[in-house]
Amino acid sequence: MNNETKKSKQTIQNIDELLEAMWLDYTEINPQAKKIHELFASRGETVVNDHIALRTFNLPPINIDVLARSFVQFGYRQRGNYEFPDKRLVAKHYEADSRPKVFISELQVEKFDNSFQKIVKDMVDALDNSITDRFDLCIAHRPWDLSFDTYQKLRKSSEYAAWVAALGFRPNHFTVLVNALKTFDTLQAVNDFLEGEGFLLNEAGGKIKGNPALLLEQSSVLAGNVQVGFSDGLRTVPGCYYEFAQRYESEPGNLYQGFIAQSANRIFESTDRGQ
Ligand code: NI
Repeated sequence: MNNETKKSKQTIQNIDELLEAMWLDYTEINPQAKKIHELFASRGETVVNDHIALRTFNLPPINIDVLARSFVQFGYRQRGNYEFPDKRLVAKHYEADSRPKVFISELQVEKFDNSFQKIVKDMVDALDNSITDRFDLCIAHRPWDLSFDTYQKLRKSSEYAAWVAALGFRPNHFTVLVNALKTFDTLQAVNDFLEGEGFLLNEAGGKIKGNPALLLEQSSVLAGNVQVGFSDGLRTVPGCYYEFAQRYESEPGNLYQGFIAQSANRIFESTDRGQ
């Protein structure tokens, strides 16, 4: 995996090209998502993407609002607000007609100790506008130097912080909308199929998070490991994962489009694979 910030993609002109570039970027370091996508396609399925998730820190140059800018510019509107107190995270989700929703979370850096805050602030202070103004900031990858030692220090306080520090700006996960699958009736059937194919599901909070009464059920495979270039050498760390969501009608003919904080709270743990 290339640990340097990619050159700005001059060819990206609009939101659909950005969404396509995000998928290509994501599958490049997440072969299991590509494989699962192909397994569905081989059953005659057309995979519909429910949402894309992005992660960041809440510091002004790179917070949720900055990451959301390119989407809002092309008609996405902010809908839900979410809080995850035990992980010291907040999130917002954005919608635009038939396009996939975008779910963006940010770490509340000020809620950590001084040495943790200094590490993150020093990384972000070094950024200039050529990075943060990019239309494709969400696939800009890691724009700062990082040692594996610093990664481990962050990880002691927040697995999420370590993930963002190591992998930078890139989709954390894409999500298969189970409702749009024709050969599976339930999320349980999707999970059984994935496990039969040898994929490992995130079991934190149960393999299925949520229930029909909450109007949303979600599961995910555990993140695959990726090689990351740190300033002191190559290391293997958890990368990205694929999620699966089944939505229920909030009123006749309308599928619920929001998220359930207590479910998402455990979905975050799909990148927590120990060391
Ligand atoms: Ni998700």
